[in-house]
Amino acid sequence: MDRSSRNRLNHRHLHLFDGETLFDRIARAVCRAGCLPRKELYEAWEVARRVRRRFRGGRVVDLACGHGLLAQILLLLDKRSPEALAVDLRIPDSAASLAKALQVDWPWLEERLCFVEQSIEGITLSADDLVVSAHACGSLTDLVLDKAMSAGARVAVLPCCHDLNTADTGGLEGWMDGPLAVDATRVARLRAGGYRVYTQTIPAEITPKNRLLLAEPA
Ligand SMILES: C[S@@+](CC[C@H](N)C(=O)[O-])C[C@H]1O[C@@H](n2cnc3c(N)ncnc32)[C@H](O)[C@@H]1O
Repeated sequence: MDRSSRNRLNHRHLHLFDGETLFDRIARAVCRAGCLPRKELYEAWEVARRVRRRFRGGRVVDLACGHGLLAQILLLLDKRSPEALAVDLRIPDSAASLAKALQVDWPWLEERLCFVEQSIEGITLSADDLVVSAHACGSLTDLVLDKAMSAGARVAVLPCCHDLNTADTGGLEGWMDGPLAVDATRVARLRAGGYRVYTQTIPAEITPKNRLLLAEPA
């Protein structure tokens, strides 16, 4: 199966996920909702499990959330998180269908998940939050990091769409490719801000933009 496919999962794909693992159950809900590209299911899953290996509990704040699947998987993986805020400038209409499909199996998600349609700039964070953002394009990832750092919150981002004309490459582009220089400079900025950083990747076959940056106050 091509895990990077942008085709939407729907009822015809249910047979691909006929096991009883948590992933299979989530994937079946995604198929029933019929609105999510296959790639986004795998990205959200691979990010969420790596984040939860490091960071437990806390309010989940999924910034530039799109359909908000990452926020919901993070809740499913750790019931100690009391709630999740899923924030996007424009929440897709189908986010509600996806949330409803997941609530068939996990009705308690309804109480714990809140979608907010507004810009990241206006969101107030606290030090207990777990801030996540998958593919916040270009400088939006820097805004996510800035917001998390000013609150002293844990943060995990999967950057994409690096804009080498505007992003800080830290002068590193003579040694490494531009997007890597941008992400390495983000690491340096977090460390200078008193953060401990963990660098990982999700499988490149799902997305070439696969660098996962996790950080927590040291
Ligand atoms: C590439 S999508 C990623 C969506 C989702 N996180 C995912 O991984 O599928 C980027 C998202 O950022 C949102 N966005 C762009 N600018 C934003 C802003 N200032 N505040 C909140 N969301 C924003 C867009 O509406 C879009 O849904």
